[in-house]
Amino acid sequence: MSAVSLETGLDVFDQARADAFGERFVGALNEAAMTVMASIGHRTGLFDALESASALTSAGLAHRAGLNERYVREWLAAMTAASVDEFDAAAGTYRLPPEHACWLTRASVPNNLAVAAQTIPLMGVVEAALIDCFRHGGGLPYDLYHGFHQVMAEDSAQTVVHALFDAILPLVPGLADRLDRGVAVLDVGCGSGRALLKLAERFRRSRFTGYDLCVEPIEQARAEAVRLGLGNMSFEARDLAEHPPEGPFDLITAFDAIHDQRDPAGLLRSIARALAPDGVFLMQDVAGSSHLENNLAHPLGTYLYAISTAHCMSVSLGQGGPGLGTMWGEELAHRMLVEAGFASVDQTSLPHDPVNTYYIARRGEPRT
Ligand SMILES: C[S@@+](CC[C@H](N)C(=O)[O-])C[C@H]1O[C@@H](n2cnc3c(N)ncnc32)[C@H](O)[C@@H]1O
Repeated sequence: MSAVSLETGLDVFDQARADAFGERFVGALNEAAMTVMASIGHRTGLFDALESASALTSAGLAHRAGLNERYVREWLAAMTAASVDEFDAAAGTYRLPPEHACWLTRASVPNNLAVAAQTIPLMGVVEAALIDCFRHGGGLPYDLYHGFHQVMAEDSAQTVVHALFDAILPLVPGLADRLDRGVAVLDVGCGSGRALLKLAERFRRSRFTGYDLCVEPIEQARAEAVRLGLGNMSFEARDLAEHPPEGPFDLITAFDAIHDQRDPAGLLRSIARALAPDGVFLMQDVAGSSHLENNLAHPLGTYLYAISTAHCMSVSLGQGGPGLGTMWGEELAHRMLVEAGFASVDQTSLPHDPVNTYYIARRGEPRT
C-alpha cells in the first residue's frame, strides 16, 4: 500500500514498493524469455531428445535432434540459466531432470506445459497488427496467426481428447450408451477435429459432423478421417454466423469455441434450435468470472486476459463480432445459454482441466 501525505493528501512515492516491482518485472523478463525458448524446445523436439538420454553435449543433442549445433548450444545456455536443465561444466554435458521432463515432453501428455508455451510467441506474431487495432479499432483475421490451429489441436489433445471417455462424456449420464447405439453429433468450431475423430473411432454407429470457419484445420481433419478409414463423419468449412447448423442433432459440442465467434448469441440460439428435443449441448469454455474484480486471484488471470487481447477478443471483432473475450465468464455464459432457449443449464468443472468450465444444456420444454 502506498502512503498518503497528511499535508497534501496525495500519494507519497513508496520506494520499497517501486524496488519490489522493478525486481518482479526483471524476473518476468527472464520467465517470459524462458517460455519462448520452451516453445522452441517443444517444436524442435529438443526436450524429447534431451529427456531420452542421461546427459548430452550440445553436439550430441544436436545430432540426436537433427538440428544445428550452434543454435542448440545457445538454447541450452538459456535453458541452463533458467534452471530448466542442468549443466555439468567439467563434462560439457546437459541433462533434463525427470521432475522437469514430466512437464515438458511429448511423453508427458496430458501435462505437457511446453504445448501452452507456444501461445506466448504466437502472440508476438500478430503484435504489429494488434497495435494497429489499438490505434484504429477493428480486429484480426485468423490467417494472421500462423501455426494457431496446430497449437490449438495439441492443446485440445491434452484437455479434451485425453479426458473424453473417462471424464467428459460421463458428465452426461447415459450419453456413452446413446453414442454406442447410434446418434447424430455435431461439433461447432471443431478446429482440426481431434475430439470428433476420437469419438467417431469409438462409436461407429453414430454419425459425426464438424464445422469450422477455417479451411486449413478442416482439411487436416478430413485427411485424418480418411487415414483412419472413418466413414461415419464429415467436416465442412463454414461460417456458423452465416450458415447456422441444421438439425436435428442428439449431441452438439463446443470445445472452447463460443466466445470468439462472430455471433456467439446467434450461434447459441441456432444450436438450441438444431438440437433434438431430448438432445444435449455440451459446452466447454474458459472458467472465471465475467467481472475483472472476481478474477484477481485467478491463477492464470494475466495469461488469459493477454490471450484474449491478442486472439479471442480480436478474432471475434475481426469478423464483425462482439469480441466477448476469453474471460466472458460464467455469469454471462450462463445468461446467454438461458436467453438462447436452453431450459436447463448445469455447469461443473473437471480436475484435469481447471482452465475450463463444462456446461450441460438442454432445451427441455419451451419456457412460458
Ligand atoms: C479456440 S478454437 C477451438 C477449436 C477446437 N474446438 C479445439 O478445441 O481445438 C475456436 C475455433 O472456432 C472457430 N471459429 C471462429 N469463428 C467461427 C465462425 N464464425 N464460424 C465457425 N467457426 C468459427 C475457429 O476457426 C477456431 O477453430
